[in-house]
Amino acid sequence: MNILVTGGAGYIGSHTCIALLEAGHSVIIADNLCNSKSETVMKIMDIADKEVTFCEIDVTDAEAVDIIFRNYKVDGVIHFAGLKAVGESVDKPLDYYYNNIVSTLVLAKACQEYGVNRFVFSSSATVYGDDKVPFVETMDLLPTTNPYGETKAMSERILTDITNANPDFSVSLLRYFNPVGAHWSGLIGETPNGIPNNLMPYVTQVAKGKLKSLRVFGNDYLTVDGTGVRDYIHVVDLANGHVAALENLTEGVHIYNLGTGKGTSVLELVKAFEEANDIEVPYEIVDRRPGDIASCYADASKAKRELGWEANLDIISMCRDAWRFEKNYTDFVESK
Ligand code: NAD
Ligand code: UFG
Repeated sequence: MNILVTGGAGYIGSHTCIALLEAGHSVIIADNLCNSKSETVMKIMDIADKEVTFCEIDVTDAEAVDIIFRNYKVDGVIHFAGLKAVGESVDKPLDYYYNNIVSTLVLAKACQEYGVNRFVFSSSATVYGDDKVPFVETMDLLPTTNPYGETKAMSERILTDITNANPDFSVSLLRYFNPVGAHWSGLIGETPNGIPNNLMPYVTQVAKGKLKSLRVFGNDYLTVDGTGVRDYIHVVDLANGHVAALENLTEGVHIYNLGTGKGTSVLELVKAFEEANDIEVPYEIVDRRPGDIASCYADASKAKRELGWEANLDIISMCRDAWRFEKNYTDFVESK
């Protein structure tokens, strides 16, 4: 199939492009590079040893999207393009609602106009709010506490309504848990701007000496050791989940958790990182981070049952691959 991958130069999108190419599909990347670099497209081609088509466009631009659908035969869309920083979304709600919602509307409209019936959407476990773990797809969505989360819940709703009104349309809503790690080549991985918000890139930058020490946000949660528990999933497993979702797509709306089903605490992750890479990660315990929940992990059984997909790579592989990429990566971030 010819797959239009929006946000294909980004972290999860780039790994998914490789998985698609390896599975024999062709890829058209649409990315405005607002949070990525064109070099990543070259690296995708190097790793997969295949060509991809790259269109540097903003997917909120209906005309630019129309040109792609007019000029290329698109069999399906995987829509990654979006702004994703939770804290920033509170400060810039208009940017987040505009970018994340308009892009979904523009792409869905183009699909309808050109008779493209396969659509895979990047959602997030954040739509579950702080309900009981493990999160199951059938749970009601709780109001999220930030505009970013709202854009995911709204996009899910928009795509569901469109599908209900158009029985030929097929949509897969993929709720990711915590993607980490990098491609085994060490060529592509996560490159956050400035000081990372997320745990794994913070840990790798501490290990590299770019940052002094990890701040562990709270050790008084009701968890195995008091620190926050999350379902970390290797980005390569996550990428393969997209291929499975795309290839098994049937009419209607299908929702899948993409996680491992296993919870890992902050301190367990730090220990795994130290063991996997034989390197020390200094840390200090500080106050809880506002908005964090104690535990978040998936019931990942539906994806296994219906898509035949499950995550295979363990926390040690995630830590090893994240570190291999960080060691290779040269951007400099000031130490705080
Ligand atoms: P990323 O920032 O690395 O990738 C997003 C890509 O989209 C970037 O290359 C960016 O340049 C591009 N982009 C953004 N807005 C665009 C626009 N209007 N037009 C064209 N390109 C645009 O992020 P990621 O971690 O790869 O996340 C991909 C998707 O998965 C996002 O929708 C994100 O919300 C979702 N998600 C990510 C996580 C996570 O922890 N990384 C968790 C849950 C869901
Ligand atoms: N943490 C620290 N120190 C840090 C960073 C994080 O202790 O410097 C802790 C957090 O308190 C949390 C855990 O590490 O317990 C994971 O935090 P992340 O920031 O890496 O990830 P979150 O689970 O908070 O959020 C991520 C994405 C969201 C997405 C959500 C879905 O950032 O966009 O996963 O599960 F919605």
